[in-house]
Amino acid sequence: MMKKEWWHGKTAYQIYPKSFYDSNHDGIGDIRGIVEKLDYLKELGIDLIWISPVYLSPCADQGYDISDYYQIDPVFGTMEDMDQLLEEAKKRGIGVVMDLVVNHCSDEHEWFKKACEDPEGEYGKYFYLEKKRDGKLPCNWRSYFGGPVWEPMPNSDWYYLHVFHKKQPDLNWENPVVRERIYEMINFWLDKGLAGFRIDAIINIKKPQMFRDYPADREDQLCDMGTVLADTTGIGDFLREMRDRTFRPHGAFSVGEVFNAKDGELADFAGEDGYFSSIFDFRQTVEGKSVDGWYRARIPSPDDYKRCCFESQREMEGVGFYSNIIENHDEPRGVSHYLPEEARNEKGKKLLAALYFMLKGLPFIYQGQELGMENKIYTAIDQVDDISSRDEYQVCLNAGLSPKEAMEVVSRYSRDNARTPFQWSDQRHAGFTKGEPWLKVNENYKEINLEKQLGDPDSVFSFYQQLIRLRKDPKYQDTIIYGKTVPILEEELGIMAYFRQGEGQKLLVAGNFGSERRRLPINGINGKKCKVLLSNDKNAEAEEGVLILEGLQVVVAEM
Ligand code: NOJ
Repeated sequence: MMKKEWWHGKTAYQIYPKSFYDSNHDGIGDIRGIVEKLDYLKELGIDLIWISPVYLSPCADQGYDISDYYQIDPVFGTMEDMDQLLEEAKKRGIGVVMDLVVNHCSDEHEWFKKACEDPEGEYGKYFYLEKKRDGKLPCNWRSYFGGPVWEPMPNSDWYYLHVFHKKQPDLNWENPVVRERIYEMINFWLDKGLAGFRIDAIINIKKPQMFRDYPADREDQLCDMGTVLADTTGIGDFLREMRDRTFRPHGAFSVGEVFNAKDGELADFAGEDGYFSSIFDFRQTVEGKSVDGWYRARIPSPDDYKRCCFESQREMEGVGFYSNIIENHDEPRGVSHYLPEEARNEKGKKLLAALYFMLKGLPFIYQGQELGMENKIYTAIDQVDDISSRDEYQVCLNAGLSPKEAMEVVSRYSRDNARTPFQWSDQRHAGFTKGEPWLKVNENYKEINLEKQLGDPDSVFSFYQQLIRLRKDPKYQDTIIYGKTVPILEEELGIMAYFRQGEGQKLLVAGNFGSERRRLPINGINGKKCKVLLSNDKNAEAEEGVLILEGLQVVVAEM
């Protein structure tokens, strides 16, 4: 029997502060904007919020490049605002989870500035500094945002390593002083009363023993960081130490952004005694991606989606809890990515919502997902802010795509799809700001906005509200949190169905991605005995041993 933890039954919500709500109308969302909307989140049913970084940052990568971990960036507000957010959230029973970005800092962080002044001094050891060997860079790794991971330090023959943007120098975790300073900082925030942290890019903190070349996988003669990480061992020592020095003594929740965990390591990362409380399930987000770049990616079909979810559920069973998502600030909008075109309507959005939300694990809702917000259409690269999209655009052009074709690719995968302002109403700029928003609002805000959905019992918003209520219903809570996921009808194309098997209780979750009515043989089902708890269709029919699903229908039922 799994040890129960305070966070197991929560429903989490990710806020991208820059695009959530702009309280001072300078075009950029802020912490006070979050405070103003706490009642809204409460109404939705949220009890944990993860806020993307609000620390001092030159914003080369939207705050994931931190120049002072102890300060709030003035564009987002002040430390007093942050304290107020913690206080107001607490009053409403909402825990605040901050983003922990410690694989790298900003090249404008004091540590890096000091390292540049004296690469061979104390602060030089805070980073990975190397010199060219025989005129060649130390190794051929490609940074996630393109180009080599090595960048020269100003006025010096030293090079520093950055696996992300060149304005994000990697911190040297091998240096115990660096680790101490990181733990000190984490504890500073936890002492303020944070519920925990989402831990950014953490799998990158351990580098292989040697900076050596790996086989090149593109014409740039560089190799993907995935290859490098696959060849790296020993990250556990750092992660265990961090947990024991910070999260564990505070009883804090931690969720790791863990890509590329190795087979057999799941329990180390997310088991009862794991480094983190939970890790995100990214299996479906990486499905179809290619090391060649976005232009070679394949969009997952509903059956791919189902397979990914079930693989993850099976591997995590008895181990711990995944944090489940359909989107975040780095991914396209889930409804635009996983739903076939003809299913991108309110009914289809509810279908996807129920299928992922009822899986075992901690559901995370990304801001706007609860309204069914969609990808934006980008037609020219200057409409896009995201650095990763700009790199991928270039990769497309280098591969011979026309600018128009390149934009089609970028538009599909751009991180800016999820970063457009939250659509509060049909007012100018969707009610997000009275100023000029830093990133343009999606043109569809007149149709898709909160105001329109709030009082409507059939809206996507209301459906999410019902899902959350169901998760909290004392009658079903235990099964929804702890019940085993038992996939059924796996071979049925376009159908995703599973049981959640609790103690003396069994829930059925079944959805039809197609537009045709389907008759599904399900053992033990019977029109009279089965109690529909939730559906996106007025009628939910069953006969002896058969469940009938209309096109795009989803049903959650008690067997
Ligand atoms: C993952 C974050 O989610 C992403 O937005 C960021 O660019 C990288 N890590 C680097 O911090």
